[in-house]
Amino acid sequence: MVEPIVRLENITKKYGDLQAVDNISLEVKPGEFLTLLGPSGCGKTTTLRVIAGFEQPTTGDVWINNSKVNDVAPYNREVNTVFQNYSLFPHMNVFDNIAFGLKMKKFKSQEIKERVTNILKLVQLEDYYNRKPTQLSGGQQQRVAIARAIVNNPKVLLLDEPLGALDLKLRKHMQLELKHLQQSLGITFIYVTHDQEEALTMSDRIVVMNNGKIEQVGVPHEIYEFPKTLFVANFIGDTNILNGVIAKVEKDNLKIEVGKESLLTKNDEQLSVGQEVQVSIRPENISFCQKKTSEDSQLEVTIKDYIYIGSITKVVAELADGQKLLIKTANGTKIEENTKRYVTWNKADCFIYQEDIDQAVVQ
Ligand SMILES: Nc1ncnc2c1ncn2[C@@H]1O[C@H](COP(=O)(O)OP(=O)(O)OP(=O)(O)O)[C@@H](O)[C@H]1O
Ligand SMILES: [Mg+2]
Repeated sequence: MVEPIVRLENITKKYGDLQAVDNISLEVKPGEFLTLLGPSGCGKTTTLRVIAGFEQPTTGDVWINNSKVNDVAPYNREVNTVFQNYSLFPHMNVFDNIAFGLKMKKFKSQEIKERVTNILKLVQLEDYYNRKPTQLSGGQQQRVAIARAIVNNPKVLLLDEPLGALDLKLRKHMQLELKHLQQSLGITFIYVTHDQEEALTMSDRIVVMNNGKIEQVGVPHEIYEFPKTLFVANFIGDTNILNGVIAKVEKDNLKIEVGKESLLTKNDEQLSVGQEVQVSIRPENISFCQKKTSEDSQLEVTIKDYIYIGSITKVVAELADGQKLLIKTANGTKIEENTKRYVTWNKADCFIYQEDIDQAVVQ
């Protein structure tokens, strides 16, 4: 088994009464692109700062490359950090910004020149070596910040929302560039974002955080297709959450009453009749159907909104008890508002949770 390059063991970080990070344990594999994802204030930056050594954990241990580094100063850890605002030196040109760390470490000028030239090629800024940061675009400045961090050959690069300041188009472009760079260098990236699409695009594994705790760790596909908690289901992509009550427990199925309707789900939980549950179903997994042709869930809805957005259509529908359903369909045939329709889905596509919905739902 490959030894983890970074290991967090029961890390807690308190600021007074506030528990910014709450007993987190995590192993990061060498060469992995691991993303910490979660809403504002959930403890992503604090976790990164604990790894970098800018913060001491209140309790718990940080291991880098098999050494416990709790008492090792940030500059002696085998990690480098790229911050959101790049923090480039404005009075230095691109070359000197990148060379700065090597000069501080008293490398010979010939070696500095070679290393910086190589890195400039890697980030495609050879022709810009003499420019000052203010003479560069946002994306170019961002690449200088990355170049400055990787020129020291760190084992691990920590990146705190490095694309946050870029416009959407450049951001998407840089996501792919960064991913390719990480793959070609083989450096371990620990990346922070609150953008779920960015996390799904770039990561080998995603750590979903909420309130200082880890909700789920998994590859992007697992996180999206099999959310373990209501929070994850709701935070990653769009989902519908319906409140219901268990009406019948059978060997393979659960029958759940949602208002005046009932639906069937797979029975994979220890649940009993009368319990209140939340059912989560992705909008793209719902389809329109004819009335009562099979055993599956079939719910009568009233169409409230029909929104054509090109590649797909979003339909907002309402159940008899007022709960709303968002449906995404590729079929562009207009459905009139205030008409009644039936919707259905595959029972394997819905998930049951038993959580306090107010706590679990974000935004
Ligand atoms: N130095 C500090 N002193 C006191 N509280 C802090 C300090 N740093 C962070 N916190 C608090 O700890 C919690 C976690 O903060 P953190 O910066 O880790 O969140 P985050 O997930 O990075 O959020 P964002 O997406 O907004 O950057 C927040 O409630 C924050 O207010
Ligand atoms: Mg942050």
